[in-house]
Amino acid sequence: MKETKNLKLIEHKNVPQEEPARQYYFMDIAKDYVAQLAAQKGSPMTFHVSTFGCQMNARDSEKLVGILEKIGYVEVDSEEADFVIYNTCTVRENANNKVYGRLGYLNGFKRKNPFMMIGLCGCMMQEPEVVEKIRTSYRFVDLIFGTHNIYKFAELIVNSLEANSMTIDIWKDTDKIVEDLPVERKYSFKSGVNIMFGCNNFCSYCIVPYVRGRERSREPKEIIREIERLVADGVVEVMLLGQNVNSYGKNLENPMTFAELLQEIEKIEGLERIRFMTSHPKDLSDELIEVMKHSKKICKHLHLPLQSGSSRILKEMNRRYDKEHYLELVDKIRAAVPDIALTTDIIVGFPGETEEDFEETMDVVRKVRYDSAFTFIYSKRTGTPAAAKEEQVPEDVVKERFDRLLKEVQTIASEKAGAYTGQTLPVLVEEKNEQDASLVTGRLSNNSVVHFPGTEDLIGKIVDVKLVECRGFYYIGEMI
Ligand code: 5AD
Ligand code: SF4
Repeated sequence: MKETKNLKLIEHKNVPQEEPARQYYFMDIAKDYVAQLAAQKGSPMTFHVSTFGCQMNARDSEKLVGILEKIGYVEVDSEEADFVIYNTCTVRENANNKVYGRLGYLNGFKRKNPFMMIGLCGCMMQEPEVVEKIRTSYRFVDLIFGTHNIYKFAELIVNSLEANSMTIDIWKDTDKIVEDLPVERKYSFKSGVNIMFGCNNFCSYCIVPYVRGRERSREPKEIIREIERLVADGVVEVMLLGQNVNSYGKNLENPMTFAELLQEIEKIEGLERIRFMTSHPKDLSDELIEVMKHSKKICKHLHLPLQSGSSRILKEMNRRYDKEHYLELVDKIRAAVPDIALTTDIIVGFPGETEEDFEETMDVVRKVRYDSAFTFIYSKRTGTPAAAKEEQVPEDVVKERFDRLLKEVQTIASEKAGAYTGQTLPVLVEEKNEQDASLVTGRLSNNSVVHFPGTEDLIGKIVDVKLVECRGFYYIGEMI
């Protein structure tokens, strides 16, 4: 596009220094440029954002979409668009490889479309080696930015449109949180809400603290204000997002606990369901369990990453809890909230993991009986302490353990599914069923999926559904 674009450039004068005013200023300029391009092209300029990784990235992508729509781009389903953005993940090596693979294929589209721009952002871009590789081997990329300056997206688009070379802007860290930028939600009735950014835990295998920076909590009044607005706009369920929500509020000017924040959010009229993710077992307090026990809105689901059942490996992972503490915590939670669904993350093949260590993990899985579990093969991330460990477990051993674990997890999950068959429970209707147009699909408070006969107008509503039968991992029901 650089060669063909013929933009009438707008002078940047009296640029506001404060945020978000500065970004609204650049949105106006970008809007003008996008309109000029659409006129040259003879049709609206289109965009597509592809999101990799976690819910945090999904929420960030909604912020990108909000800005793109505000400046006049139109969203399309395919990557054959005028602006394609990859919001990347780097938590495991294979996530990185996927991006490189797909970039080659994007270049094919770009060769055919002189208007096309390619942008890369997200966790992977916080790694200097990645940026270097893209700079040298993927020169057709137009814009690269990281996780800390995503709020500057409008300004970066303007820079990129005005520049004749790749725009790269990566910050190592930030203490800045910019409020009140446009966001375009994927669902009308539910939304993620960031309550904090970054992570201070430095689990020894994990790259997140290096790419997402230090822990920063949003001010409670900003969180409440955002949720109140969402509710006024039709949202009934929020997912509070943070790498470690249990340490929310510690670094605020007026410190506040996560349990206190939840109690404030609970008071918001019209809000029906509260979910949160992710909890770290070392910080999950009795106060939080007490709040969950008495809450009418907090969903009956807790994601509590185990990572390993071996106290020795947990120590090596720098998780700061042991097997016994984890099991006690689970007992305490179940005593307070008996019908809670528990899910987890487990890593297999951490350096030095022996058969005995692995058996400890299997033991916890059998004792806790998770409703579901995400199982991961350990992935060596350069720069983390675990990557320097020499005793990497042979691939075939890891694979064999992984298969055993997966089988155990799935057997237990399928035994647990269906526990509520025959009962009538509230379901938040989320979408039309993809396979059968006569059905709609929704979720119970415990996150189980329910399909039942119904029409599209139910989407976003909470209705009582009798759970008639359980098929595999989901229920078939009928509305009461
Ligand atoms: N290898 C494998 N899995 C990892 N996770 C984080 N880092 C790694 C790694 N290096 C997993 C953890 C975490 C989840 C989001 O990803 O289980 O909870
Ligand atoms: Fe990574 Fe541990 Fe932080 Fe989770 S708590 S993001 S696993 S360092």
